[in-house]
Amino acid sequence: MINNKRHLGKQFCSFFFIVITICFSGCAAKNESTTSQKENDSIIVGFSQIGAESAWRNCNTRSVQEAAAERGIQLVYDNAEQKQENQIKALRSFIAYQVDVIAFVPIVTGGWDNVLQEARDAGIPVLVTDRKIEVADQSLYAGFIGTDSLKEGRNAGLFLLEKFKNKSARFAETGEFINIVELFGTEGSSVAIGRADGLREVLKSHPEFRIIYSKSGDFLRSKGYELAVEFLEMYDDIDVIFSHNDGMTLGAIEAMEEKGIHPGKDIVIVTIDAQQAAIDALRGGKVNCVIECNPKTGPEIMKLVEKLAAGEKIPRLQYVQEEVFYETDDLSLIAPRGY
Ligand code: AHR
Repeated sequence: MINNKRHLGKQFCSFFFIVITICFSGCAAKNESTTSQKENDSIIVGFSQIGAESAWRNCNTRSVQEAAAERGIQLVYDNAEQKQENQIKALRSFIAYQVDVIAFVPIVTGGWDNVLQEARDAGIPVLVTDRKIEVADQSLYAGFIGTDSLKEGRNAGLFLLEKFKNKSARFAETGEFINIVELFGTEGSSVAIGRADGLREVLKSHPEFRIIYSKSGDFLRSKGYELAVEFLEMYDDIDVIFSHNDGMTLGAIEAMEEKGIHPGKDIVIVTIDAQQAAIDALRGGKVNCVIECNPKTGPEIMKLVEKLAAGEKIPRLQYVQEEVFYETDDLSLIAPRGY
């Protein structure tokens, strides 16, 4: 009975996969017949992505789709359009179809216990990627692969300490603060929390730095623009914008330029993701520091999926390699980013 259900589930998935593959054929890599493809013919992975809010996210989706196609893994893809309830529905449908492995990008940290318990009851291993989760029972998921957002926030803080070391050193005598505006990512997401915490941790023993404004722009360029219009109206003594992603940064730059403020000169800008447009802004002197968040995790995800499908253990925590690009670097050496 169980085998029959699984078989039907797999048939359904194969059909669903074909439909999805056709939909995304523009993004997928060439489907060459390789040994690994034959070996992986039977692996089906259900992948729940949170949406298409940024260039980073679209690159992440492409990376997963291409890596699955290259390894002959059948990918059942779902776009949750920024809603946790859609993600939970997608996970439940993956369970009903009895996929071999579930991988998902959790939009926020909390609220996953029940659905992950259901996956476990169905014997389906779960891989968490990009953003972390908080669950009462850690064994509800097999492992995490993605970005180290706390380190990203710390890198932003370390850059600011260096950039403002002279003003900082004079603080006791001048009493002049270094005023920071923070464009926060999605509320409740592990990456926004990590980036915010990392910055605060580094600056906590430096009272000359103070965060005068922090609001969520949901990782959207349009909201970055709107918030910048607001804070530029409220303050005329902003020293720094710390933005949790490039999309919001680009929106803020647009708002600054409309007001005749010179980004990167009148206000120091630190941004996270390292999409091509942010690197171009760094080269143009409009941004001072770009912290990479690496979206090209598809190949590593698929390696872990293969292990899980084979019943093997995977590392609990795997961070991807990421760099920091500074205004003082030789910027001609940065390779095209691809997103
Ligand atoms: O979770 C990663 C973040 O989500 C990226 O920094 C941002 O651009 C995205 O939308």
